Order: sequence, then C-alpha cells, then structure tokens
Amino acid sequence: GGMASAKEKHKDILNVSHRGASGYAPEHTLVSYEMGEKMHGDYIEIDLQMTKDGQLIAMHDEKVDRTTDGTGFVKDYTLAEIKQLDAGSWFNEKYPQYANPDYVGLEVPTLEEIFRKFGKNNQYYIETKSPDIYPGMEKELLRLIDKYRIDKETLLVQSFSPQSLEIMHKLDPSVKLIQLLSYKTNAAITDEEVAAIKEYAIGVGPNHTYLNKEYVQKVVNNGLEIHPYTVNDIERMKLLIDWGVTGMFTNFPNLLHEVKKGK
Ligand code: G3P
Ligand code: CA
Repeated sequence: GGMASAKEKHKDILNVSHRGASGYAPEHTLVSYEMGEKMHGDYIEIDLQMTKDGQLIAMHDEKVDRTTDGTGFVKDYTLAEIKQLDAGSWFNEKYPQYANPDYVGLEVPTLEEIFRKFGKNNQYYIETKSPDIYPGMEKELLRLIDKYRIDKETLLVQSFSPQSLEIMHKLDPSVKLIQLLSYKTNAAITDEEVAAIKEYAIGVGPNHTYLNKEYVQKVVNNGLEIHPYTVNDIERMKLLIDWGVTGMFTNFPNLLHEVKKGK
C-alpha cells in the first residue's frame, strides 16, 4: 500500500499501439507500427483477416473498402490481389492534418512480414477477427508464431470470440489469451463470468466507455489483467489508471507515454 507503490504501478501499465499509432498514420501498415514503437508503445496491436489463399493479413474490417482503394471481402481476394491495393491514401483524405505523401501506396502487410520486420522479441497483441468465417485461422496463427519463434512470454492473443480463444488454448495452452468484451451500457461482470474466463484467459479487454471503478477492481482482485480499448483522451487515461487498469489500447501511444511519465 501507500503512495510509493501506487506510483510504481503506473510504470507497468501496458501501452498498446492500437492498429499501430493509428491516430497519426494509416492503421495496420508497417509505418503505423513503426511509429507506435517510436512513441513508446509496448505492444503492436494487430487485427487478423485471412485471404482466399489462406494468408493472414493485418486488417480490421472483413472488407477492404474503408482502408484501401479496393472493394469487397478479404476472403475473396488472393494475397497477390491484396498486395495491389493502396492502404495509405484513404488516411490522407480522411485526416488531412496528419497527411503525408509517404503514405500513398502503402501495402497491406502480412503477419509474416510483420514478424520478419519487427522480430521475435517484439511484443505482439494479436486479434483473431471473424474467426467464424476463417476456419483454421488459429492453427495458421500458431504455425507462424512458432515459425518465427515469437516470444510467448510476452505474446498476447485476443478475440471477442470465446470459441476462437478456446481453440487457441487447446492447440497451445502456453499462449496467453485476452477475452475482448463489448458493453452497450454500464459494464458489469458476474463471479461466474470471471471464473469462466479464467479457465482459458489471463485477462479481459472491455470497451472503456461504460467501465466503472467497481468493475475494474473486481476483475483485478480476481487476478485478471484488464486492458480497455480504445482510449485516446489524456484525462480518461488518468482515470482508468487510478481505477487500476493494467494496460490500455490507444491510437495515440505518445499521449499514454506522457501520462505514465507524469504519474
Ligand atoms: O482489440 C481491442 C480493440 O481493438 C477491439 O475493437 O474493433 O478496434 O478491433 P476493434
Ligand atoms: Ca483489435
């Protein structure tokens, strides 16, 4: 207890670069991940989708429409076709204040390219997106984690799908898992829900909007990590840290870094 330990606690808050430093650069590009590292993000957050030919790529949406100049579903594209798309220009149009000519023509990265560029000792926070439309994605993810000898001490795999996390857990119980949660009104979690999640996961990732101190403390006191998403406001970061969160996702890792330094 006491002030000193409360102060120490803030240094351990995981700073997760959400889709990279996606407030400043086009999400899920190598440039965005690199910027996240420079801004003191501890983890690179990666959303996974799978191509027609079974390649894992970094993209948030099931469709390429929002973040590239293409249209349609990722699952209907081969990797070669995905590679033709421009994953940067949309950002310059949407966020002129952060536009950069270097973003024009950026490629959609594969998970393999990310692992090769950032290396086995980097810290990855990987989400299986839409696992129901990509059977086998967990197995392919584990194959690449092992192929590139990614450090499993720090690796975190996240999903909204408990089924996807259960598959991961069965295939490789040594991979640490985070159950994502989404609340549409005041967040609450029962003892039964906590116990069920603890069977396979080391923590939860709820949306921050409807969180409260009671929720955060219940989760933490049960020995689970709690990493809310997506926190882009300094005052909100400070409040969540005071409530006891153990990390958070942010599009602006430099802001969380400043908050942590100031504590
Ligand atoms: O993975 C944490 C957070 O990113 C979940 O929401 O939709 O941004 O992937 P989403
Ligand atoms: Ca995500």
